[in-house]
Amino acid sequence: MEDRELLRLAIEARKNAYCPYSNFPVGAALLCADGTVYTGVNVENASYGLTMCAERVAIFKAVSEGKRDFVKLAVVCNAKRCSPCGACRQVIHEHAPDIEILMGNPNGEFTRTTIQALLPQAFESGDLMPE
Ligand code: THU
Repeated sequence: MEDRELLRLAIEARKNAYCPYSNFPVGAALLCADGTVYTGVNVENASYGLTMCAERVAIFKAVSEGKRDFVKLAVVCNAKRCSPCGACRQVIHEHAPDIEILMGNPNGEFTRTTIQALLPQAFESGDLMPE
């Protein structure tokens, strides 16, 4: 799938963001190795800390549907480029340590990076040592 198409899906999904507290909608589109795409939006809560970011919604939707191989993630918000938060970086790394990330905005501008660049030396399963 073309980068522009994945970004377009993230831009479209962003319209469904539930963000009455921040008024900052975020959209994500996750491309799986089999060509399917799972979208996500930020879902906020009156108890602010319960908010779930768009990236994690997309990943959790895909994983809960049995998907395990991910190729590319587009994230879009009203910024120069939409950079995933630290919590999302850790979750992205867990499920897709080699994934490419497109950080964009609703005008279609974007920059390309990888989770390796965004979260070098991540904590990972191999670091878990039994006591
Ligand atoms: N947000 C995301 O959805 N993804 C990120 O990576 C950064 C932040 C959301 C959370 C909250 O609803 C709003 O953006 C403002 O922080």
